[in-house]
Amino acid sequence: MLRTFVSGEGEIPSSGLVSDYLAELHFRISHLSGGAVASYIPELAKADPKLCGIAIATIDGKTYSAGDADVEFTIQSVSKPFVYGYALERHGREAILQRVGVEPTGEAFNSIVLDEVHNRPFNPMVNAGAIAIAETIKGATPTERAQNMLTLFSRLAGRRLSIDEQVYRSELETGHRNRAIAYMMLNSGMIRRAPEDILDVYFRQCAVRVTARDLAVMAATLANDGVNPLSGERVIATEYVSDILTVMNTCGMYNYAGQWSYDVGIPAKSGVAGSILAVIPGQLGIAVFSPPIDQHGNSVRGVAACKEIAQDFRLNIFRSHVSTSTVIRRELYGDIIHSKRARNPLERRLLSETGRRICIIEVQGPLFFGSAERLIRRIGDVQSTTSHVILDFRRVPSADEAASQLLARLAGAFNETGRKLLISHLAHQPALATLHEAMEQALPEQIFEHRDAALEWCENAVIAEAGIQFDATRFSLSELHIFKSLARDDLRLLEALARPMIFEAGDRIIRTGDPARLFFVIARGTVTVELADAVQATHQNLRIASMGPGLSFGEMALLDGGTRSADVVANERVVCYGFSVDAIHELGRTHPHVLTTIYANMMRDFSERLRRANDEIRALEQ
Ligand code: DON
Repeated sequence: MLRTFVSGEGEIPSSGLVSDYLAELHFRISHLSGGAVASYIPELAKADPKLCGIAIATIDGKTYSAGDADVEFTIQSVSKPFVYGYALERHGREAILQRVGVEPTGEAFNSIVLDEVHNRPFNPMVNAGAIAIAETIKGATPTERAQNMLTLFSRLAGRRLSIDEQVYRSELETGHRNRAIAYMMLNSGMIRRAPEDILDVYFRQCAVRVTARDLAVMAATLANDGVNPLSGERVIATEYVSDILTVMNTCGMYNYAGQWSYDVGIPAKSGVAGSILAVIPGQLGIAVFSPPIDQHGNSVRGVAACKEIAQDFRLNIFRSHVSTSTVIRRELYGDIIHSKRARNPLERRLLSETGRRICIIEVQGPLFFGSAERLIRRIGDVQSTTSHVILDFRRVPSADEAASQLLARLAGAFNETGRKLLISHLAHQPALATLHEAMEQALPEQIFEHRDAALEWCENAVIAEAGIQFDATRFSLSELHIFKSLARDDLRLLEALARPMIFEAGDRIIRTGDPARLFFVIARGTVTVELADAVQATHQNLRIASMGPGLSFGEMALLDGGTRSADVVANERVVCYGFSVDAIHELGRTHPHVLTTIYANMMRDFSERLRRANDEIRALEQ
């Protein structure tokens, strides 16, 4: 049962929740008796059995602790998985597998058993395997090897570590069992260098001084795919992290590994100085330090604390937390949801009648095989009723290799059918780089920075297919919604007022705050309506609409005659007609019905836009 761990009255301090939990847990387990401080290395026997520290580090670098989490002790066997990772990175998987196997022994950490069939130690977590692995530490001299080993651990902890000379010397003088193992391995060719040389660096590696907090950070480095969450430095290559975790899971707790996995379900490693390090991939690292150890060499209080944490926080890795069911946030269709491109009435009607052929899928959460497969299956279902599918990846934090490959295959299949798959929001996200690359190869023309641009592209395609493109070169004023239903004579009067104007790309046709004296009708080119958005940190303008030939802008000036409320910028060379607001009002004095008709047309347009906006809001709120 998860106990209550809210601290005090009033506001809940966000980090206090976890710290208070650890404080309560520490209180309970620090009173546990049982076990004894390791004494086979005489210097270790001096440890204070009452010491007890717990630390947790998250993959974004937050650490929590309780008790003696900052007391230094020697890392001992907890060093083994990290030197194993170092060896894998230096020599590759195959070469290291030839030297050391990955089979649990079911025996004690210091057992003198070797895999005679394959002529190698059973695994890198028992002493024999760890000694064979220590042979791979680079350096021409003992000092160089010790230095390289210490650099590795300092990078893992995110601070400069040192070696406990007393513990090192103590084990050097008394570690005859390890010496025996090393000589046996030399005898059968499992190691090549002089045993004393290898043991020297192995004993030093075991004597690195760390705290529970350091071990939690090292565990979080494994949880974080090899990147130290404090320093941001990659210390272990991604491809070997799962190898390390696998051997930790099967062999990390020695002849207790099976029961540990059954009870706790978290890859872990223990050391005889009394520490346990546990890794919850993608979440956090846990470390507990308390010197009394049991008959397996595992800290008694460490085992108890890890069991409770795993149970209370549901951290068993075999109780998978990932769900594929939420990969689709929602689906939207082009008959209801429109791009910011303003359309003429004909186009608007066409889009509300046939826009359902455009489907937008908002994807969310990390993409991996399971979630990508589910997404692809849904795309397959909507395909029969759509010609365009837009995948909006704005809410996707990461996509692994498997998901990237599946989606690239999907893109290829789309290309063959003639249907269009469009992608948005993939750029500038490092965790989506592989997917971005795969998609760019498959769909070079269909990757958009923003969803709106992708939607506009689809709408244009649907409109072009229907053959109702507005002929920008020859249109009469009667085709404009604002002048709709006016008699030919009235239109002639208006034609006489039209002033042809040309703007070049980037020209600001209308500026926010300027007096509103003209309204415009576009004959050629497109413009963008932007809100000057000083609030945004980027100081970028917010695009609210774009419009092309046959559409008018700035007509609000006819109503209020005040100042401009937005900027309008030419996207390319724009040919348009400007109508003076004063001249139209003047015309209204002699021909009042002209002004009334224009107002009625504007009102109709506004109410239609409002209705469409309401429909969109309704669809977006679902
Ligand atoms: O090799 C040894 O005996 C020690 N230096 C390390 C053993 C160890 O920590 C075993 N783990 N529980």
